[in-house]
This record gives sequence, structure tokens and C-alpha cells, in this order.
Amino acid sequence: MNLILLGPPGAGKGTQSVLLEKRFNIPQISTGDMLRAAVKASTPMGLAAKAYMDAGDLVPDSVVVGIVHERLQEPDCADGFILDGFPRTVPQADALNESLTQLTKGLDAVVSLQVNVSVLVERLTGRRTCKNCGKGFHLKFDPPAQDGSCSACSGELTQRDDDHEETIRRRMDTYHQQTAPLEDYYRRAGILLTVDGMSGIEDVQQEILAGLQAR
Ligand code: AP5
Ligand code: ZN
Repeated sequence: MNLILLGPPGAGKGTQSVLLEKRFNIPQISTGDMLRAAVKASTPMGLAAKAYMDAGDLVPDSVVVGIVHERLQEPDCADGFILDGFPRTVPQADALNESLTQLTKGLDAVVSLQVNVSVLVERLTGRRTCKNCGKGFHLKFDPPAQDGSCSACSGELTQRDDDHEETIRRRMDTYHQQTAPLEDYYRRAGILLTVDGMSGIEDVQQEILAGLQAR
């Protein structure tokens, strides 16, 4: 199954992708995670991307289109993939279509998670990530171990650099201006699956699975 997870910052794209990855045994491809790894490793791409990410802006299309095209050719994508956070602009969506045609692949569905702005802000300000294994948590909705460490590996938790109120606001604006038009783009292509992302993590997962099955 070849899927895209679409939605504003904090909608639950990463959370739901990880669950889908386990269920279908296909990889989650998160451009945000790939870019953060590049920043951490101070690669040329990471150095170029950091200022855009810190500001809550999108990194240039030319940077992300290339890394996704390469990633889709890896053997673990043979049976499917879950794109999380890509595409984010119409030119990225057009480039993805070209890549998929070239690789003789297609898209089965674009899952669009719908969540109110006030809930998004609460989710982002409470998000924490394990420094060691990368597992995601929420202080209130998906809490870590009682001592505040990662429940999987006891690693220390950290807050993302861009999860501060001013940057969150900018990321929301960027989403509405540049990414939201993709809902119409994929609705016209007949593959948009709109899902209410307001309920709990497991309920949202069940709604996605039901929606995929009904297609
Ligand atoms: P990216 O990492 O993709 O960030 P984002 O799109 O802003 O999305 P988030 O990761 O913040 O949210 P999410 O929807 O995954 O929510 P999550 O599941 O974590 O991108 C970061 C930056 O990289 C961009 O700003 C840009 O600069 C750059 N970039 C990345 N891709 C790019 C591209 N294609 N082109 C150009 N630039 C790009 O959930 C959030 C929190 O809520 C968690 O704590 C979670 O536990 C909790 N939660 C989730 N679901 C629920 C639920 N149902 N109920 C209660 N709590 C929940
Ligand atoms: Zn951990």
C-alpha cells in the first residue's frame, strides 16, 4: 500500500504513520525526520535546511524532492510506503507524480487528518521525543514513564526546536498557504481520504483503517 499522510503541524501524521508502519510492515518516510537527522549530523543539506526549519518555513522543494526520490528506490519500499510530511507544495506533488511514474508505482490513498487549531497547539507544546530511540510522546495524551524518561529505552526526552509558540504559529501559516491546496489536488485525483483527527490516538488509527478498507 502506498500512502501519504497529510495534515497541519501536530495533526498526528507521525504518530499515525508509526502505527501504520507496524501494521502493514511498510516504511514511514518522514521528510521532517530526515531533515532533522541531517541537521544533527551537520551535513551540507542539514546546514542549508536549519534556518528554514527554525523559522517555521519550508525548505526549498529542490532539497526534499531529491531525497524522497532516492528513498523510494530502496528495497524496503517495494511493498509500499507511508509518506509523512511530503509532499507539502503543489510542485512537490507534481515531482512525486513524476518519480512514481518513473518507478512504476502509484498512490493508493492520501489520508488527510482534520484537527482544530487550539488542539494542534496543545499537542505541539506537549510533545516530547526520546533523544535515544526517537519515540514520540505527549505529556498529557501519550505520557512517558513516571520518572519522565522514555518508556521504551529510559532515554532522556527532548522538545523539538520548532515546537515553541511563535514558530508553531508560523508553521500553521505556512501549512495553510502552501500545503492545504494539496487537499483539492488529491480530491481531484480521487484518492483523498478525509479523517477526523480529533479523537484519541487509537480511535484515529481505527478510523484510518476503516477508511482504507472501504476504498
Ligand atoms: P515535520 O517534522 O514534518 O513537522 P510538521 O509537519 O510540522 O508536523 P509535526 O511533526 O509537527 O506533527 P505531526 O502531524 O507529525 O504530529 P505528531 O504525530 O508528532 O517538519 C518540520 C519542518 O521540516 C518543517 O517546518 C519544514 O521546515 C521542514 N520540512 C519537512 N518536510 C518538508 C517538505 N516536504 N518540504 C519542505 N520542508 C519540509 O503529534 C503531535 C503530538 O500530539 C505528539 O506529542 C503526539 O503524541 C500527540 N498526538 C498525536 N495524535 C494525537 C491524538 N489523536 N490525540 C492526542 N494526542 C495526539
Ligand atoms: Zn527511547
